[in-house]
Amino acid sequence: MAQVKTRNTWGSRLGVIMAVAGSAIGLGNFLRFPAKAASNGGGAFMIPYFVSLFLLGIPLMWIEWTLGRYGGGFEHGTAPGIFHSIWQKNRFIKYFGVIGIFGPLVIFIYYTYIESWTLAYSFFALLGKYSKLTNQATMQSFLRGFQGLESNQYFQGLGPAYLFFFITFILNIWVIYYGIKGGIERLCKWAMPLLFIFGLVLLMRVVTLGTPDLTKPAWNISGGFGFLWNPDFSTLKSARVWLEAAGQIFFTLSVGIGVILTYASYLSKGDDVVLSGLTAASTNELAEVILGGSIVIPAAFVFFGPQDIQSIARSGVFNLGFVTMPLILNKLPLAQILGFIWFSLLFLAGVTSSVSLAQPAVAFLEDEFDIGRKKAVLIFGVISFLLCQPAIFFLKNGVVDELDFWGGTFFLVLFATIETILFAWVFGIQKAWDEIHKGADMQVPKIYKFIIRYITPLFLFFILGMWFWQEWLPIIFMKNVSSANRFFILGTRIGLLLIFLTLAILVKAAWKREKVQLEKAR
Ligand code: ALA
Repeated sequence: MAQVKTRNTWGSRLGVIMAVAGSAIGLGNFLRFPAKAASNGGGAFMIPYFVSLFLLGIPLMWIEWTLGRYGGGFEHGTAPGIFHSIWQKNRFIKYFGVIGIFGPLVIFIYYTYIESWTLAYSFFALLGKYSKLTNQATMQSFLRGFQGLESNQYFQGLGPAYLFFFITFILNIWVIYYGIKGGIERLCKWAMPLLFIFGLVLLMRVVTLGTPDLTKPAWNISGGFGFLWNPDFSTLKSARVWLEAAGQIFFTLSVGIGVILTYASYLSKGDDVVLSGLTAASTNELAEVILGGSIVIPAAFVFFGPQDIQSIARSGVFNLGFVTMPLILNKLPLAQILGFIWFSLLFLAGVTSSVSLAQPAVAFLEDEFDIGRKKAVLIFGVISFLLCQPAIFFLKNGVVDELDFWGGTFFLVLFATIETILFAWVFGIQKAWDEIHKGADMQVPKIYKFIIRYITPLFLFFILGMWFWQEWLPIIFMKNVSSANRFFILGTRIGLLLIFLTLAILVKAAWKREKVQLEKAR
C-alpha cells in the first residue's frame, strides 16, 4: 500500500488570509508602486492599474487559489504536479510548471538582499547614521556606499550590507524551518497588524504636512494627492503604461509567481477560496493604494514638487524609498523614530513576502521527493544562499535588474497565461467554475465566467505580444546594456538557464521515482 503522507496545513482561516496578504504586501507596495505611479505621470497610471486589477489580478487570484487547493488534494503543492493533475494525458505540461518554482526562487535571490537594506536602514535611522544628510546628492552617496557601488566617506566595502543580508537570510530560513503553521502563519499574524499600525502612523504624519514651504503654495498636500489621483487620459494610448500597470498588478498581488498555488495547496478540499482570495487581494490593494500611495508620493510632492518627483522616480526604483523618504523624514520632528518606522514597515512587508517566495522550492522537495521539511529547508537554505551571491556582488553590473526582468516580470506573465489556459480551456470553464465554488462563502459575479474564459487570456496574449513586438530584439541582443556589463548579463542569463534546466531534470526524476514506487506497490 502506498504510504500516506501528512502535508502541512494552516492553523486557521484568518492565518491563511494573513499569510497570502503578507505574501502580496511587500516591497512592491511601498517602493515599486510609488515609483511606477510617479514615473508614469501619477493619475494616468491608475486607470490601466485598476483595469488590470479587475481583468487580470482578481481572476488570477481566484484561479491560483482554486488550482492550489485542487493540487493539494493530490498532494502536490507546486505547479509541475498541479498542472499534471489538471492535464494528466499531457507528458510535457509538468515542465511548464517548472516556471512556478523557478520564478519565486529567482525573485527570492534578489528580494532578500533588497529586504536586508530595509533592516539595515532601520538601524541607521534609529542610530542617526544619516541624520545629518540634507540633500539628494549626499543621501544618494550614502546609499551607493552602502550598496558597494562606490567607496566613500560613509562606507568602504560591502561589509555592513553583507552582515545585514546574512541576518535577513537566516531569519527567513528560520521562519520557514518552523513550517506553514508554526513559522509563516505565526510570523504573519503579528507582522501584518504591526505593518498596518506603522503605515497608519506614517499616513497620519504625511496628511498633516500641509504646505511646508510657503514660498511654493502649490506644493501642498492636496496637490500631492491630486498628482496621484487626477487622471490624464492622453497617456492611455501608450502601450508601455499598460504593460507597466499590468506588471505591477502581477508583482504586487504575487500572482503568476507560483506562491499562491503553494499556499493554497495547504487548504482542505472544503475550504472557501472565493472570499478568502478576495479578502487577501483587497487587503493588498488597501496597503498599496491607500498606504503605499499616500505616504511616499504626497510627501515627495510637497517637498520636491511635481517635476522633481517624476525625475527622482525615473532615476531608479529605490530612490524614492531610500533617498527621498529619509530626506523628507529628516526635516520633521522625531526624525529618527519616523525613519525607523518607515524602514521597519518595509522590512515587515519584505519578510512576509520573501518567506512565501521560498516556500514553493521547499514544498517541491517535500512533496515530490518525500524529503522532511527541516531537511528540505536546509537544502534550500544552502543552495539559495549561494545563488544570492551574484546579486550582492554584481549589483553594479545590472544583475539584480536582469533577475527582476526575467523572474519578476516576464515569467510572471508567461506563467499566468499558461495557468489561465489550463484552467479555463483544458480543465474547462464549467468544471473550473464548479471547482472555484466548492465550499465558497460567496458567489463569484457571473461576469467573471466570461472574463476568465476570454478576457483574461486575451489580455495576457496582448501583453506578451506587445512585449515581443516592442522590446524583444533589444532585450535578446542586450542593446541597452553597456559593453562593460554584457559579460555579467550574459552570465546571469546562462545561470538562469542552468537553474531552469536543473529544476526540469528534478521534475523528470520525481516523476520517474513516483512511477517506480507505484509499480513496486502493485
Ligand atoms: N507581492 C510581493 C511584493 O509586492 C512580492 O513585494
